[in-house]
Amino acid sequence: MHDDFWTMMREAVHNEAEAVAFYREMANCAPNSALNHSIQQIMQDEVDHQAFFQSVLTCCGEEHDGYDCDDDKDVKYEKKQAHGRRIRIPEVSEPYPPIRVECPNPEYARLLLDDYAGMVSEMTAINQYLFHHNDMPKEFAEVAELLEGVSIVEMRHMEMLAELIRLLGQPPIYMDGQGRFWDASYVLYMTGNPCEQLRVDIESERAAIETYRQHIAMIDDRYIKAVLARIVKDEQLHLRLFSRAYQRYCRC
Ligand SMILES: [Fe+2]
Ligand SMILES: [Fe+2]
Repeated sequence: MHDDFWTMMREAVHNEAEAVAFYREMANCAPNSALNHSIQQIMQDEVDHQAFFQSVLTCCGEEHDGYDCDDDKDVKYEKKQAHGRRIRIPEVSEPYPPIRVECPNPEYARLLLDDYAGMVSEMTAINQYLFHHNDMPKEFAEVAELLEGVSIVEMRHMEMLAELIRLLGQPPIYMDGQGRFWDASYVLYMTGNPCEQLRVDIESERAAIETYRQHIAMIDDRYIKAVLARIVKDEQLHLRLFSRAYQRYCRC
């Protein structure tokens, strides 16, 4: 295909990303919830356009990297440059809701501190996936890359939880809702056993989804519910991707 086409396609991705950022800022400033909702819908269209252009680049253009592109059309194949290579970010393309709370609430802050830095938490997931990424053998290079990308998404989740906890009136210190500091023993290391590592990563995603759903049911704040429900969508994607990797690499 003509080189100009791919140049224009890259520009389209860039322009859509700028539009998304613009509408996100506008939504955050909206004077009422009806306007906020309408602007969020417009932003969602731009997110879809951006995902479409990016998927064309990723699957058909110069950025094609050998991955199956027919699967997971809802994944945002954002690529970040790091140490001279690009990292895929396995994140659902739906935008995150605005980070806000109805009012401060120490009990809700304690629940979110469990998700933030408890035993089953974003802090544990980040460190577990990063350790597994670093420990994967060469034959599992694709899995290692997936783990790194998922770890980055968990960092975004942790950042959003930190902001919610702060808005609820608590400092986002690395401890759970009972005041216990995060502990490196929470990580399921499974050193040198990539299939066991993938298996426990699948279980970790399942546990995260279950805990978030419990907290959504316990928290009566529409803004926090929306953020947790959106995080669950990413965790469901991670569960699918880890399960698929397990099927591909670890099936006897
Ligand atoms: Fe997460
Ligand atoms: Fe996850």
